Amino acid sequence: MSTNDSGWGLESLPPGLPDPEVLARLAAGFFGALPGAREVAEGLAAGAPLAPEPASAPRPPSVPGGAGAADAPASPGFSFLREARPIFGGAEATPKPGIAAPPPIPSPAAAPIQPAAGEGPPTPSVPSALGTAESAIPGFSLLEEARPLFSYPPSAPGPVPAFEPADARPEFAALNQGPRAFDVETIRRDFPILRERVAGRPLVWLDNGATTQKPQSVIDRIGYFYAHENSNVHRAAHELAARATDAYESAREKVRRFLNAAAPREIVFVRGATEGINLVAQSWGRQNIGKDDEIVISWLEHHANIVPWQMLCSETGARLRVAPVDDSGQIVIEEYERLLGPRTRLVSVTQVSNALGTVTPAREMAAAAHRYGAKVLVDGAQAVSHMRVDVQSLDCDFYVFSGHKLFAPTGIGVVYGKSPILDTTRPWQGGGNMIQDVTFEKTIYNTAPARFEAGTGSLGDAVGLGAAIDYLNRVGMENVARREIELLHYATAALETVPGLRIIGTAREKVGVLSFILEGVRTEEVGDYLNRECIAVRAGHHCAQPIHRRFGIESTVRASLALYNTCEEIDALVAALQRLQVARRHRNS
Ligand SMILES: Cc1ncc(COP(=O)(O)O)c(C=O)c1O
Repeated sequence: MSTNDSGWGLESLPPGLPDPEVLARLAAGFFGALPGAREVAEGLAAGAPLAPEPASAPRPPSVPGGAGAADAPASPGFSFLREARPIFGGAEATPKPGIAAPPPIPSPAAAPIQPAAGEGPPTPSVPSALGTAESAIPGFSLLEEARPLFSYPPSAPGPVPAFEPADARPEFAALNQGPRAFDVETIRRDFPILRERVAGRPLVWLDNGATTQKPQSVIDRIGYFYAHENSNVHRAAHELAARATDAYESAREKVRRFLNAAAPREIVFVRGATEGINLVAQSWGRQNIGKDDEIVISWLEHHANIVPWQMLCSETGARLRVAPVDDSGQIVIEEYERLLGPRTRLVSVTQVSNALGTVTPAREMAAAAHRYGAKVLVDGAQAVSHMRVDVQSLDCDFYVFSGHKLFAPTGIGVVYGKSPILDTTRPWQGGGNMIQDVTFEKTIYNTAPARFEAGTGSLGDAVGLGAAIDYLNRVGMENVARREIELLHYATAALETVPGLRIIGTAREKVGVLSFILEGVRTEEVGDYLNRECIAVRAGHHCAQPIHRRFGIESTVRASLALYNTCEEIDALVAALQRLQVARRHRNS
């Protein structure tokens, strides 16, 4: 019998599938056709261990990407087999009759998997982005020697200030040594897209503020839902409806625990943070905010937390008041408190600024707002992936976030609302699911959360969100937060070595968001140059124009970090920016 570490073997495939040996032969033929996969194909034909996935959960043979098949030496399927890892985890994985229950995933922190010797994409040899003469620059020798993955040939002549990479600097040494509590290489292997190559080079994903990448367990969980559980929820008597409802409601319970909400009925599924804020504005807002009432926000807000309130103000005659920020990008709490008064109905504030990374004093702000009887909405879109959130400790009345910024799919998000508020708030959309009884004369609405979930929700995506929360629980939010702060310090120090670079947003309380401008280069040019170096950042106003204008600028370049980012990636960013500056000076001289 051929079994792998977790005890799954070819013999234990679910009933109804072809003979294991036939499967192995077919797989061997398939994988053998992939470039460089001969030895795996041979292993399979000889009955080598098969990765313990539910056999009917489909796995795409290759992931489409800009690089094309020729640029992808190892397809996701290939490396997945080689890693031989279980794919599912999740509390809701109750075995169903006749289908393989998703087996649990070992915690990446508890059971680190070391990279196989020689694994990882080869050092690319690509013409420099600027296409100018290449020469050895002394300042880069350390980077090049220590970082085979990112040792790009310098693309411009001239002196470059050296930045020592992490393992050469004692204060950051721990970052790359991968303490057992957080082995970043193990984490990275959970995210297949991080093995993607763009134009033949390894992808450096530093655009996590826009969206995060998805671990294999989330991708597989969604596939499992559609392969084994798909049905509409709550509405039918059949088995699949029960499975889908279990999976969907189990995701709600996971979100409840993740936010430390008091009850699942306080968790409403929506499309994302934007829809969540609009829901509160159009339901609770219309019901409770009138002429001359005041809504307080801050200069840090994303447009999603400005425009819905402006719309409500123009409908109702209410006023929008804006709490200022200081030069570091932190809200000036005394000024904020001065804005509060008997007319304040709502404070709506971000917990983390998407443009600057500032962690606001949301708890303190909520307490001050409550002293005036105002309600508080906290926009957690940029907070949830970086820190543990506790809505009861924040004592906010509403909390919103988007799944896609939390390693979950797009199309799913959450509004948390305190039960007494949700239960007395009128729904904003009418339709199926949100009713208890309908006649032509009158409709009786359902209780929360159903009353805010009219129509069919994004069921598979909600289940994917539950899987993303499972994943983060296995890693541990405290580990994530600690790691990211260390990486933030490392990145800040590294970026400060780039001539003419100014970081915008230097608050003491910050998450891993590094927005900057580069003297003499437009932000789009920087973004474009970095893109050609296969480094994904965001360049622009990041849907937060007011806070940029507060700093006298229209846009920044933003590198935003997540748990899977490494010092090597920061080094690659810094090296590219240094090359860009050298090239610019060379051009101008
Ligand atoms: C702070 C903040 N709030 C709200 C949003 C809106 O999120 P979504 O576009 O997922 O609805 C974002 C998106 O970047 C954000 O950063």
